[in-house]
Amino acid sequence: HTDPAEYIRNAIRSVPDWPSPGVTFRDITPILQDPRSFRVLVDLFVYRYMRQRLDLVAGVDARGFILGSVLAYELNLGFVPVRKKGKLPYQTLAEEYTLEYGNATVEMHTDAVKPGQRVLLIDDLIATGGTMVAAAKLLQRLGANVVEAAAIIDLPELGGSDILKETGLPIYTVCSF
Ligand code: PRP
Ligand code: HPA
Repeated sequence: HTDPAEYIRNAIRSVPDWPSPGVTFRDITPILQDPRSFRVLVDLFVYRYMRQRLDLVAGVDARGFILGSVLAYELNLGFVPVRKKGKLPYQTLAEEYTLEYGNATVEMHTDAVKPGQRVLLIDDLIATGGTMVAAAKLLQRLGANVVEAAAIIDLPELGGSDILKETGLPIYTVCSF
């Protein structure tokens, strides 16, 4: 009887002062450990994407792998990992992006996507948007059509979803904090 998005939002745990003082960490593990909320979450995404004629789901290291792989399985699609630097064994391409302090790099295998494939990009959360933008660039460099960038949570005050919108990428998030 509750709205599924509201149900998911209520299942997220907010942890004050983690990983550093003043930061409130939005923790999805309570959704995952409860079979009902995990199913509500997966089904929200399944119904959104079941008629989109996708070819692949690309999930972002590490929390994007959890929902991404379940969704790929349910939609009968392949799954591609976008990984942190130095984890993938074969030929890779890389995108560096800026964090609050320093840089980070995400990588994909060069044969992970074929030109023209319709790819859903998924992660747990959009904060500054740096990770999602870099992941989308990797996919687009391989000629993929990134159909949407999706996440469970948006933190709009950090500006990431606005930056993603400016890149012209459609975005979808279940809830925001
Ligand atoms: C978190 C989160 C996103 C990213 C969002 O991952 O899961 O991937 O940060 O931040 P951004 O929008 O500012 O780029 P983290 O790097 O903590 O990795 P983890 O999933 O391995 O914990
Ligand atoms: N929760 C989870 N992951 C994050 C957060 C957060 O609040 N901020 C940046 N990455």
